[in-house]
Amino acid sequence: MRPLATFLTLLLLLGCSQTLLLTTPIDTPTPVRTAYSEKAMVVSAHPLATQAGLKILEAGGNAYDAAVAVQFALAVVLPAAGNIGGGGFLVGRDDDGSTYALDYRETAPLAAHRDMYLDDDGQVIQGLSREGHLSAGVPGTVDGMVQLYDSLSALQRWDLLVQPAIDLAAQGFKITAAEAGGLNRLAERFRKYNPASCPLIKADGLWQEGDVLLQTELAETLQRISDEGREGFYGGLSAKYLLAEMKDAPIQEYFVRKDLNDYRAKWRTPIECNYRGYKVHSMPPPSSGGIALCQLLQLVEPYPLEDYGFQSAESMHLIIEAERRVYADRAEHLGDADFYPVPVDGLLDPAYLQQRMSDFDPERATSSTDISAGAPSPRESEETTHYSIVDTWGNAVSVTTTLNGGYGSGVWVEGAGYLLNNEMDDFSAKPGAPNLYGLVGNEANSIAAGKRMLSSMTPTVVSQDGALRMVVGTPGGSTIITSVFQTMINVLDYDMTMSEAVQAGRFHHQWTPDKVFYERGKVSEDTLYVLGQMGHSVNHRGGIGRVDAILVGLGGELEGAADPRGDDHAQGL
Ligand code: DON
Repeated sequence: MRPLATFLTLLLLLGCSQTLLLTTPIDTPTPVRTAYSEKAMVVSAHPLATQAGLKILEAGGNAYDAAVAVQFALAVVLPAAGNIGGGGFLVGRDDDGSTYALDYRETAPLAAHRDMYLDDDGQVIQGLSREGHLSAGVPGTVDGMVQLYDSLSALQRWDLLVQPAIDLAAQGFKITAAEAGGLNRLAERFRKYNPASCPLIKADGLWQEGDVLLQTELAETLQRISDEGREGFYGGLSAKYLLAEMKDAPIQEYFVRKDLNDYRAKWRTPIECNYRGYKVHSMPPPSSGGIALCQLLQLVEPYPLEDYGFQSAESMHLIIEAERRVYADRAEHLGDADFYPVPVDGLLDPAYLQQRMSDFDPERATSSTDISAGAPSPRESEETTHYSIVDTWGNAVSVTTTLNGGYGSGVWVEGAGYLLNNEMDDFSAKPGAPNLYGLVGNEANSIAAGKRMLSSMTPTVVSQDGALRMVVGTPGGSTIITSVFQTMINVLDYDMTMSEAVQAGRFHHQWTPDKVFYERGKVSEDTLYVLGQMGHSVNHRGGIGRVDAILVGLGGELEGAADPRGDDHAQGL
């Protein structure tokens, strides 16, 4: 009986998927949180993605080449956030000091309009911008990677950069416990929007750590991207699958061919500011990240944070008050600068920032109802994942990329094998209506065809006296900005190592709701008591952010720090 049963099983498997028989699934190594190297470093949210980047560095690629390989590998091994159906931002710095910002954020499709998520009474239709076909913007990742490669590749072998992802998708890899949990949580949504053949749906029972995720359709799409570049995603068979998937959207022709043909990633000028002798380079609009980070740094710079001490009531109070003011500005003034006159210079003007803290009371919390957006001078003329890379030449890449919520819209493009984002929820569906992260917005971030939704993603590079010092960034929705800020000051003000800074507890205030959130168990009871006495509403929550960062020592030595809050992995060359 037994041999026959085995034989029949083999036949069945051959009929369904030869790949299962012909290949061996790839093991996922145990994450390493702290790594050191004199040469090069990759830190990402998954060991297999980190190793894909290292493979490219070993083959002679630079940080930009490695970034492309990590992005595509994450699309396979981290389906919650790694993506080809989403978008992202990159901030890069060459060894010669030149800096770059690449915006491959999704755009609202041509069929999108300001009131598309409102009912006849002007009320927000709950969930419409958060799941399903209508929550998706036009994906930007593949064009972003192609443009990155075309402009900055040292290796000049596109196929080599996509190959690790193809292998991971085609051979399958063993999922982590966190991934199994994520897939199980989303099971209902996957079943709602997708056929039973979607590989993210487990036919029998629950996903378990060590199960193999095999993504053959995704491997085919990646192969087309490898063979044809941009056309392999926005044209041909891939476009056909995407447009066919969109036939299920409640708005007819929600995505049309022109949306795909027209999508272009954009090179932008990074936001720059100084902080205690360091130069900070971060992401400009359509992210709020760079501006908000620079505002925070400059609002706290006049105060002796080091003397106050890490997470003393004094330092937390100051930081909370700065965060409150910065998020009020974000809600009013920030959006896609190609569509709305974002007062970038005004928001970063030292005189404006000084005046923003004029009502700061070192003893008392300000109520958010007493804080509104400031009036900066007008311009003259916002589950995600982050990775940080430094190569042997000293080039640095900081990339934050996302589908927005974990597993995005839950819509998996049948035939093409990938998930679509739900980034449209980052627009302000209606003035004052909170999005997934409780963020509110106004005209600056209203929906318009072709416009990019405001982001909080804050990929950042820090230099000092012309030398690279830090590469940092994180996922976490609205908490991204405050997590990047706090990780930076942990090193720059509180003298922590990169790993200590990444592992330290975090807290967050975003103006509205008027609450301070801190990571459960990570802030001392004394401090919490004093903050409460000052008038702050203090609330605990789960982990905030997953920071993946690299610190460069004065002699050029690299410390890679991967956040233990996830499966994040640091590895040096
Ligand atoms: O662009 C943004 O700000 C959001 N879509 C990021 C979402 C995110 O970080 C989710 N991760 N936990």
